[in-house]
Amino acid sequence: MTDQPSTTDPRQSARSWPDVPGLLYGGDYNPEQWPEEVWAEDARLMQEAGVNVVSLAIFSWALLEPREGTYEWGWLDRVVEVLHGAGIAIDMATATASPPPWFSRAHPESLPVTEDGTRLWWGSRQAYCPSSTSYREAASRLAGAVAERYAAHPAVRMWHINNEYGCHVAHCYCDASAAAFRTWLQARYGDLDALNTAWGTAFWSQRYGDWEEVIPPRASPTWRNPTQQLDWWRFSSDALLELYRAERDAVRAHSDLPITTNFMASRFKPLDYLAWGREVDLVSNDHYVIGEDPAPEVELALSADLTRGLARQAPWLLMENSTSAVNWQPRNLAKTPGQLRRHALSHVARGADGIMFFQWRASRAGAEKYHSGMLPHGGTDTKLWREVVALGAELAGLAEVTGTPVAASVGLLWDYESWWAVELDSHPSQDVTYLAAVRQVYEALWRKGVTVDFVHPEEDLGGYDLLLAPSLYLLTDAGAQALDAHVRTGGCLVVGPFSGIVDENDHIRLGGYPGALREVLGVRVEEFFPFAAGVQHALSEGGSGRTWSELLHLDGAQAVRTWADGPLPGTPAVTRHRHGDGTAWYVATTLDDASLGGVLDDALHEAGVAPAAPVPAGVEVVRRGDRLFVLNHTGEPVTVAGTTVDGGGAAVVQGG
Ligand code: GAL
Repeated sequence: MTDQPSTTDPRQSARSWPDVPGLLYGGDYNPEQWPEEVWAEDARLMQEAGVNVVSLAIFSWALLEPREGTYEWGWLDRVVEVLHGAGIAIDMATATASPPPWFSRAHPESLPVTEDGTRLWWGSRQAYCPSSTSYREAASRLAGAVAERYAAHPAVRMWHINNEYGCHVAHCYCDASAAAFRTWLQARYGDLDALNTAWGTAFWSQRYGDWEEVIPPRASPTWRNPTQQLDWWRFSSDALLELYRAERDAVRAHSDLPITTNFMASRFKPLDYLAWGREVDLVSNDHYVIGEDPAPEVELALSADLTRGLARQAPWLLMENSTSAVNWQPRNLAKTPGQLRRHALSHVARGADGIMFFQWRASRAGAEKYHSGMLPHGGTDTKLWREVVALGAELAGLAEVTGTPVAASVGLLWDYESWWAVELDSHPSQDVTYLAAVRQVYEALWRKGVTVDFVHPEEDLGGYDLLLAPSLYLLTDAGAQALDAHVRTGGCLVVGPFSGIVDENDHIRLGGYPGALREVLGVRVEEFFPFAAGVQHALSEGGSGRTWSELLHLDGAQAVRTWADGPLPGTPAVTRHRHGDGTAWYVATTLDDASLGGVLDDALHEAGVAPAAPVPAGVEVVRRGDRLFVLNHTGEPVTVAGTTVDGGGAAVVQGG
């Protein structure tokens, strides 16, 4: 390629998946970290490993634009040719993930500010304020320049906008952000009266008389207004989304190739990825297991199923995971034998049509030099390299899986606004948290071999026999009506504690908890009785509950489990309500795992939901298309669906 931009028309028909046959396999490629003579070896080894795609130029801004408006394409042109020569497709990044020092020095107002007023310096990465005009303009300009230069190149098959938006700076509290927040609030509320009502500013003398008085929830003597905080989460997600849109549109002006940006579902709270999922051509996700999680494969599966939900059940791409250890946990555990393979296959089973890693070649310098790569520091005579090559070969053999649907008839209700709201401060108990509630219910089903889809309460719930709402603190009228309709028309619903409590402004629904769900659950709750830290109380039917209890009256429902002791002996802890043609269960505490499993067994039975296959403990099963994926996370051989799988092994069974 020459240094002249191409004059051919790069536009092709719009698409939602890159033109690469079979499952995608590859990783982030950072050739600028290595002398040029290494690149040819990289390409050769990529071929050996079965790599068919790499993400390029994610952190290349400083090299591509070493001075404002001066581009140096030569080195990237040469890398592109090396990859093209080896038949490796490129997911070309816009190179905007981290502005270079010259940019931050020239635009110090673009540096982010924390809630206590500390300005963050450059010297790590991602040091920019989401509402900075200078950053947005410079990033969009660079994105457009990259797209213009490479859109016509046959090796480039998709675009990678920025990188993990919000990873390090999800909220900025500077004056530019304050102004952008006010503009966002004006669009939401129209006038200050509406804002004052929504925020409940009659409380604590908070009433605003002038828009300029409205600021981000900066550090303050005590609890900041909860609705202000909730709107701040909404605004911050939207501010970053606006940045994404600006870059995406700059790229789209030159190319119709698929565009994505990598998400961080499941643990990342600040971005409303359900909204973001509508703005990308294909959903891509980064997932790293927490090594010290007692069951990392469960959290991985949750992330994969959630990502499929963000993609509205379309195939998605695992843009990053690790071949072995990462560098950013307190203790970075290497993957045990078989884990790399099982993790990759679990993602594929749950809808991923590609498995990629951070990063191709492990760095020798910089903050991530202890992070594993596909090609480790030790080179090719290593266990890790052999595993990477073997995985590439195995994935090549699974090409027929691409595009096939994942089978699930259980929907787990997921809502970012509810997550933000339930974890605001000054609540009845800090022990009622979003992910913990979701994980417990998810894990119970994972252990039963039941696959779930993640779905928002206001989206299409029609295909689900059973809906689970482990934590739905904030529920709109429309959401509540959808759940009611699901049950009335014969569906089954299981609701967890502290759900249906507030409306979209975080105002309590009056007349008895859980306001939005009282009728469907057939209960009325007078008062919450959270437990002290670490306390659990017994249930009359056996088992126990922790964290939470409620002074609950039956209003059509029947008691299924009752407190034997604690603050409310004799009152119901779990209820079941026949409502229309369906059934609604209310689990008004955090049950021990076995008791929760029992309640879910009853609900599954009632809803007629069967597992993908009956499984022994520690074995994961998922049905995708006509294959049954069996992942044995135990050390012992198991037999599932007539197939024996070694300890730590996996099998993809046709038909199953
Ligand atoms: C991701 C990021 C990568 C790399 C990786 C390490 O958050 O996108 O650039 O830092 O983590 O695990």
